Amino acid sequence: MERDIKALVKQLTIEEKVGLCGGEDWWHLRAVERLGVPRVMVSDGPHGLRKQNDKADHLGVNDSIKAVCFPAACATASSFDKELLYRMGEAIGEECQAENVSVILGPAINIKRNPLCGRNFEYISEDPFLAGKSAAAFIKGVQSKNVGTSLKHFAANNQEFFRTTTDSIVDERTLREIYLAAFETAVKEAQPWTVMCSYNKLNGVHASEHQWLLTKVLRGEWGFKGYVVSDWFAVSDRPAALKAGLDLEMPYSGGHNDEALLKAVEDGRVPQDVLDTAVERILSKVFEYADNRRIEAEFNRDAHHAIAAEIEKESAVLLKNEGGPDNGLLPLKKDQKVAFIGAYAAKPRFQGGGSSHINAHKVTSTLEAVRARGVDVTYVEGFPSDRDVGDPVALAAAVESALQADVAVVFAGLPDAFESEGYDREHMRLPDCQNAVIAAVAEAQPNVVVVLHNGSPVEAPWIARVKSVLELYLGGQAVGEAAAALLFGEANPSGKLAETFPLRLEDNPSYENFPGDGRTVEYREGVFVGYRYYDYRKMDVLFPFGHGLSYTSFRYDNLKLERSTVDFVTGGETLIVTVDITNTGKVKGKEAVQLYVEDKTGATIRPVRELKGFDKVSLAPGETKQVVFMLNKRSFSWYNVKLNDWYCGAGDYNVVIGASSRDLRLSATVRVTSHVNPPFHVDWNTTVDALLKDPRTRPLTLELGEKYFGNDKVPEGLENIASGTKWAERGYLEAPLRNLYMVRGIPYETVKKIIESFNKLL
Ligand code: BGC
Repeated sequence: MERDIKALVKQLTIEEKVGLCGGEDWWHLRAVERLGVPRVMVSDGPHGLRKQNDKADHLGVNDSIKAVCFPAACATASSFDKELLYRMGEAIGEECQAENVSVILGPAINIKRNPLCGRNFEYISEDPFLAGKSAAAFIKGVQSKNVGTSLKHFAANNQEFFRTTTDSIVDERTLREIYLAAFETAVKEAQPWTVMCSYNKLNGVHASEHQWLLTKVLRGEWGFKGYVVSDWFAVSDRPAALKAGLDLEMPYSGGHNDEALLKAVEDGRVPQDVLDTAVERILSKVFEYADNRRIEAEFNRDAHHAIAAEIEKESAVLLKNEGGPDNGLLPLKKDQKVAFIGAYAAKPRFQGGGSSHINAHKVTSTLEAVRARGVDVTYVEGFPSDRDVGDPVALAAAVESALQADVAVVFAGLPDAFESEGYDREHMRLPDCQNAVIAAVAEAQPNVVVVLHNGSPVEAPWIARVKSVLELYLGGQAVGEAAAALLFGEANPSGKLAETFPLRLEDNPSYENFPGDGRTVEYREGVFVGYRYYDYRKMDVLFPFGHGLSYTSFRYDNLKLERSTVDFVTGGETLIVTVDITNTGKVKGKEAVQLYVEDKTGATIRPVRELKGFDKVSLAPGETKQVVFMLNKRSFSWYNVKLNDWYCGAGDYNVVIGASSRDLRLSATVRVTSHVNPPFHVDWNTTVDALLKDPRTRPLTLELGEKYFGNDKVPEGLENIASGTKWAERGYLEAPLRNLYMVRGIPYETVKKIIESFNKLL
């Protein structure tokens, strides 16, 4: 149905309009019955439905309806699989239709700046390309069911410590390249119905009142069409927020803000048309939902439980399997005597705490799933699931059961209290009691597998003493089904890490500046987040970004670039890259192939390489498939604050294909001929180096040559010194133009004219 929203808005009173820009209660938008505006609901997610019928809260404390808990984003991000995320979105969209929920509050895509952020389990990646593409796929899936999403939390909300008031200080290049880029991709590619502003301030201004963020960038530059909603209670100054571009305040906050807004509109501080526009945006989405409501939609919990299991199978990451696909301890054989040790074998940790907490309709543990397959495994608890308390009796029982078996599988992880929305982690370790059990078991038994249930990286002091490690992350309510299938080889692991596991917390680039003092947090590491930093510093890590093993092996061949030079004149040009992947092992498997770009132009300081493409291919043994990537100007660019734009310098770039960020298999070079020159003004302090680097001033610099600049002639008196040549070279390149008259005796007026001639070329 085509609706004339503008005409509808004209019929509303100011009070009604103000009312529509704020929540009626915790989860509902207001209705205007006389004009047929329905009362619609929004609900948390995003990895399932947290629909609250009775007592409401935003902390996941009170109950919500029984629903299906899918794997959290920490897990699904590791799938590197856009189709899978789309399917998960479809399933959740269908649930929303069945439960009459107009918008699911997610995906949450804040960058994992530091492993201690309490909400990392909900977030996708340390890499904005992966986060943006994964979010876009999920959003498209949900919205294909005519249900909206809320892309959150916009922006630079990368910690829980004083999250409602702290001020994130981030320079523009870092913001654009790291903290906004994932939002940009998701908005441009998937048009989420809503974007949720974050609680924090960004460079001194509350995100909810941030005109530059919510209007200039989000709408003006990226073309966002939906409405902006506040995070729950994130509004400080309601009139200022509306003017800045925050359309809907959620939830109902007691009436004061509505009154303040009404007054501000009445006395002209907030123009009427600003209010009208906000109402139009909200109503467009309210009706997009209401007009496409499918009351026949079904929420089949058991069917979605099965989907959740499939998703987790594609997401879990095989971190270590000594001996490789042919001689690894994994997969386990059904005739081996297997000892399961650790509380999470029977009671998995499968989701995190806070607003994303789902009331799971059933939970399958690995123990249950394995026994349902008729496989006989022993089980001892070893340690408690919910706290860090060692028990010598339980530890002795763990060692004893390991001694009796051929293989010991320790189910470790982080207790709920260790990571949650609302507070950050205190350290990057597993509970000491769990590390003690793993160490003791490894002492008694040479064949040890560790299975991890955690929302973000942990240190692994026992890594050299165990043969295999399977990272399940927070795998959703069907995690046990997936783990059983993966451990016994019914399914082949294919997940890859969406984040680096550093060796120690202190290695993290934001270590000194996380989480700040509670008032401000400075993002001083700049663009060097995650692997961008570890690679630049050539540091050893526990497991690199993009890492993940399989029960088979893959060969990478025939990297081809469509052409060896590319000229980004209009910005619309593309470069097609192809590579062949072959399954060289004995079983079927999937490989997440990664494309990184390395900037060799030296135009600015950049990370060594950055992810600019990924795809997942499924291959039978012996089978080869071609993977195709499409690169564009943005794939090569960095954000140039002088240009206020993305800039791709002229010169060489390597296109590198990897099985991980540290397992690079093939590389080819492409030369980019750039047509955009950054702004350049020549003055007395401009150096010869700068003049030579800019293609517009280079010819004249060379022409003026030795006569004026002396070139790299060794200065008098330095001829016999070994460092003389170096001096000459640096002296030549680093000389400012004022040296021409000050050092070289060229008349001042002549130098002035030379400067003018240069500027005429720019
Ligand atoms: C969280 C949001 C959530 C909202 C509603 C807030 O505290 O930050 O992610 O959607 O509550 O529960």
